[in-house]
Amino acid sequence: MSSILDNRPALAKEVADVAEVAGYLWQKGWAERNGGNITVNITDSIDDAVRSMPAISEPKAIGTCLPNLKGCYFYCKGTNKRMRDLARWPMENGSVIRILDDCEHYEIIADSPVAPTSELPSHLSVHNWLIGKGSTYKASVHTHPIELVAMSHNPEFLKKDVLTNLLWSMIPETKAFCPRGLGIVPYMLPSSVELADATIASLADNYDVVMWEKHGVFAVGENVMEAFDMIDTLTKSALIYIDSCAMGFKPEGMSQEQMREISTVFNLPK
Ligand code: 13P
Ligand code: ZN
Repeated sequence: MSSILDNRPALAKEVADVAEVAGYLWQKGWAERNGGNITVNITDSIDDAVRSMPAISEPKAIGTCLPNLKGCYFYCKGTNKRMRDLARWPMENGSVIRILDDCEHYEIIADSPVAPTSELPSHLSVHNWLIGKGSTYKASVHTHPIELVAMSHNPEFLKKDVLTNLLWSMIPETKAFCPRGLGIVPYMLPSSVELADATIASLADNYDVVMWEKHGVFAVGENVMEAFDMIDTLTKSALIYIDSCAMGFKPEGMSQEQMREISTVFNLPK
């Protein structure tokens, strides 16, 4: 069967990177069954032949109006599809969609009519917001990292920047490579427009990764690898904290002064 990826190396690379990250999410134990979703804005890798490709689905409602997405294209993980399957067969477990001119509907154009993730309202709302503020970020990743989700069950950790500071203080790399920290979004119904709006509010508060309380995390980045790396780095810190607690002590953590030094030397935003 022919694929939209045939003879389009830039697009094929975008999708191959999603597949690689999907494999990591499964290996990490963060992607039980169909858990998690990834979308990438691939509009820059689309040519005129793709722009004239016919739809292979009816127009479907996004559930909200997203004016900055007019004519944009996205690769989306399919709803109910498994990351471990997507890792091997990305075009059978995801699809390419086009946003219609009314900015309220999309249609699937390739390779087969795999319905996009149930978290599409959050992903597309975030892409719409990123474009609106002139961001060059193209990827969004939602996953269920065990240790970070476990930590979100402690109300103390949900106070603003408590978890950010704790995770930053475990290892210097965490502040260096996740310099905006971890925003907190209180528990909301998965897939809801309310969750999408709250996610944007938290990202707008200058975070690149946000915690969906008792559910998972949502990260944005220039590309899918960058979004994954930030979640991975935060999780590494969570594991160090949890291992220390398992050994019977609360880890001392780097001092505020040591963390300020990291910010100065690495020229970090916070
Ligand atoms: P989908 O299978 O619809 O992508 O949903 C997975 C998920 O993690 C919902 O929050
Ligand atoms: Zn989820």
